[in-house]
Amino acid sequence: MLKKKRLNKTYLVTAGPTHEKIDPVRYIGNYSSGKMGFAIAEQLASRGAKVILIAGPVALTINHPNITRIDVISAAEMYDQCLLYFSNCNGAVMVAAVADFAPVVINSQKIKRTTENFILELKANPDIAASLGAIKRKDQIVVGFALETSSDEEKALAKLRVKNLDLIILNSLNDKDSGFVTDTNSIKILNSEGVIFTSGLKLKTDIAVDIVNKIIETEDFILSLA
Ligand code: CTP
Repeated sequence: MLKKKRLNKTYLVTAGPTHEKIDPVRYIGNYSSGKMGFAIAEQLASRGAKVILIAGPVALTINHPNITRIDVISAAEMYDQCLLYFSNCNGAVMVAAVADFAPVVINSQKIKRTTENFILELKANPDIAASLGAIKRKDQIVVGFALETSSDEEKALAKLRVKNLDLIILNSLNDKDSGFVTDTNSIKILNSEGVIFTSGLKLKTDIAVDIVNKIIETEDFILSLA
């Protein structure tokens, strides 16, 4: 039934971390592997959708005729690519662990060691999910992730509202075997009214099936109202 439905749609998916350059040999990054985002891209593509996959620096390959992969390094580059493609997409699934801050100055030379403390000034990066949430049309869906370490559901709901998302996938770092580098994950899916799905611990590829099912259900509902 739901699983057999072919998706004649185009989705933007962001995945992986972003790296924010400090100097020619250093950057600010995080532990995101990109596995969850790539699994969602693969799942959407295997259901017939076209996918624009905007990937941060990850050690993953993907090979599906429906997937166009665009590699980026920084949050600013990811933001630019997302804005370029979003208007031609039916939806966006924001899985990337985007760095919230970037160095104000990128040193052209390697910063040398000193014996004194070193202060690095950071500026806020653009919030890509919130930017797409702010410009989305009635026929577009924006789905975000919330990575939390405490008061999880409340914080996820707050993010959904502030960023004007249709769904948010809560990834709790309190759950063992869930999170960035593992092959498994355990998620909850929330809409503006609260939790609509709880997965239990599963392979990320199986979680991707659950997430895509909920995206399709939500889209069908939104379009029925339009
Ligand atoms: N996100 C984004 N651009 C950013 C930061 C986050 O698009 N600059 C997206 C993520 O891809 C995710 C959602 O926003 O879909 C929530 O990301 P998360 O890191 O949990 O939240 P933040 O908004 O960064 O808040 P905080 O780090 O304070 O929890």
